[in-house]
Amino acid sequence: MKRNILITGGAGFIGSHVVRLFVNKYPDYRIICLDLLTYAGNLENLADVEHRENYAFVKADIADLDAMRDVMKKYDIDGVINLAAESHVDRSITDPFSFARTNVMGTLALLQAAKEYWMQSPGGFDGKMFYHISTDEVYGSLPVDCPDGTVPPFSAHSSREGQVAYGSSYFTEQSAYSPHSPYSASKASSDHFVRAFHDTYGMPTVISNCSNNYGPYQFPEKLIPLFINNIRKGLPLPVYGKGLNIRDWLYVEDHARAIDLIFHNGSPSDTYNIGGFNEWKNIDLVRLLVKVTDRVLGNPEGYSEHLITFVTDRPGHDARYAIDSRKLQAGLGWEPSLQFEEGLERTVRWYLSHQEWLDRITSGEYVKYYETMYSNR
Ligand code: NAD
Ligand code: TYD
Repeated sequence: MKRNILITGGAGFIGSHVVRLFVNKYPDYRIICLDLLTYAGNLENLADVEHRENYAFVKADIADLDAMRDVMKKYDIDGVINLAAESHVDRSITDPFSFARTNVMGTLALLQAAKEYWMQSPGGFDGKMFYHISTDEVYGSLPVDCPDGTVPPFSAHSSREGQVAYGSSYFTEQSAYSPHSPYSASKASSDHFVRAFHDTYGMPTVISNCSNNYGPYQFPEKLIPLFINNIRKGLPLPVYGKGLNIRDWLYVEDHARAIDLIFHNGSPSDTYNIGGFNEWKNIDLVRLLVKVTDRVLGNPEGYSEHLITFVTDRPGHDARYAIDSRKLQAGLGWEPSLQFEEGLERTVRWYLSHQEWLDRITSGEYVKYYETMYSNR
């Protein structure tokens, strides 16, 4: 095997796409998928690669330092891609401690185990890489200069034609950290630890901060899969506040391709922002989602519009996220591959053709949690 790569959080949404990409694209790498299998982790997401020779699964907690030491040694790991995290903002509001535990202490334990193993290995840090996957939410919230989305974005050569923007400022790699939710605060803290390990011990690290992802295998507590599932069941679509918050959406496979590029070609100690120049106001996105889902279900246009329900806003709800990904585009030649409408339709079709997957993970414990959360709104 040429390389032994540890991918943490590999049974989750984005992690499963990264594991699949690496297992298929690099038959001479050994891919070790490590996951605690929390409510968000599901080995069904990896059923198509689980029997492959270059794949192994380890059930473990990234916050368990001894377990991380054992894995580094047992598999002679030379590259880590850390996606394991508590990832849902609403859960972080009700249970901030589990976010500090996994996202901060977990990342720290993984850094420490990698540092110890690599420092005592013959080549030291040569040829090693610790890649930490982070979020644009660490940068806080951008102003909405123009609610109608008429502010011109970047010049045509560097952005996507016809792109709507709701403000003239974007998150760049130089933007100051200003997290507002316990989730983003925990991710910001983990990013600082990763940089500290580079600056203090000379460990080769890289970080990417990505915008909102969508696509197959996302746990249906996040906006897009939750709403597709609710439309199919005729349940309310709870839009927070007035639905005016803006998010920048990227198809998950485009994120996985960016991770592959950055892992192999990113400069050590560097940071890359990943986003598709694809800003949507929540309410516009929800209306488009209703339209596409109704069309795929064979319902008349407007059939499920009545399900849209405005509910109490999320506390500390960030107004706008928008990523400037020109560094990644110019430096490593990455481009988002899909137009949003195409990606959204592909996503809707995937969830509607995987209803058993949806039904299995929206039963039991998750349903109890979900009901408690919404009865409090
Ligand atoms: P997810 O919640 O779907 O998956 C997280 C995975 O981590 C799950 O499989 C879970 O079982 C595992 N996990 C949780 N705690 C663990 C622990 N203590 N030890 C080992 N495994 C543990 O999340 P996701 O949406 O796939 O996000 C993956 C990463 O990407 C996260 O770091 C997140 O912050 C980041 N990110 C997500 C988005 C997005 O839109 N989803 C955008 C930008 C960045
Ligand atoms: P989400 O998918 O939770 O991602 P994040 O909070 O990390 O951006 O939410 C995306 C947007 O949709 C966010 O502005 C909150 C909003 N939202 C709703 O309006 N209703 C919902 O039920 C959910 C889950 C999210």
